[in-house]
Amino acid sequence: MPIEPTEKIWMNGQMVPWADAQIHVLTHSLHYGTGIFEGIRAYETAEGPAVFRLTEHIERLHNSAKILMMDLPYSVDELVDATKQVVRESGLPSCYIRPIAYYGYGEMGLATSACQTDVAIACWPWGAYLGDDALTKGVKLKISSWQRHDHNIMPPASKTTGNYANSTLAKMEALRAGYDEAVMLNRAGLVAECSGENLFVSRGGKLITPPLSSGALEGITQNSVSVIARDLGLEVEIGDIARSDLYIADEMFVVGTAAEVSAVNSVDDRPLPCPGPATTAIAEVYAAAVRGKDDRYLSWCESVA
Ligand SMILES: Cc1ncc(COP(=O)(O)O)c(C=O)c1O
Repeated sequence: MPIEPTEKIWMNGQMVPWADAQIHVLTHSLHYGTGIFEGIRAYETAEGPAVFRLTEHIERLHNSAKILMMDLPYSVDELVDATKQVVRESGLPSCYIRPIAYYGYGEMGLATSACQTDVAIACWPWGAYLGDDALTKGVKLKISSWQRHDHNIMPPASKTTGNYANSTLAKMEALRAGYDEAVMLNRAGLVAECSGENLFVSRGGKLITPPLSSGALEGITQNSVSVIARDLGLEVEIGDIARSDLYIADEMFVVGTAAEVSAVNSVDDRPLPCPGPATTAIAEVYAAAVRGKDDRYLSWCESVA
């Protein structure tokens, strides 16, 4: 889906026209994958556009910076305000938001100490990441031949741009083989996550989702969905999942800001009940929560007004 331009992008504190939001080809992070980013969504609510769990996303951006030893020149509050400004000025009722911080132009070489940190925030309209019928028909998953990067190789807790070369290898392999998304195993052979989503498996009456220690990102949707599932009376456990758990799951779904809640119809060509009852129930509450239609989760919707 091509990016649909909006009017302006926030760059280092200024709103600049979309077409002028450019960087030099010798930008440090372009060469070494040393940027950090977030993926956030704003939804239409009765009070106007609201950004879902904005503060947590910006806090995670700050944590990514800490892990990379990057000095972010803007506080959490400043980036929360800047994000709201970007959404407000776009005039869009709902959108996807991409904040990114990167080492800019000026120095080359692997050391970053002399580099300046640049920050940009863009937003644009973006539909369902895994397709419009990901919830009704479900997506086809394939176990990747690529392993999830390890804690002592590329820390998975940081959304570092370079980490995503690993995700892209897995995603492209899955797509070219005729699947929708890749499941990534860690170096111990246990399930970590998908290339851009956390996953949940239902087995023996409880939902299980792998922890950060598995190599998965600590997803904000994973957290939201866990809260919603428990509120629905379902048992949720953060725990290890083996590859075979996926093949014999009672149902399975993947979650992320971009993919929201997407059902899974098969893993490595073993069909799964799809969409399962827990998937449907959770997806329904999640869709209401992000739009400010469920009072229990109103604090997650941060109005841009
Ligand atoms: C690798 C990976 N896992 C999981 C997720 C889901 O995280 P969140 O729910 O915070 O968007 C993402 C998306 O950011 C991701 O890139």
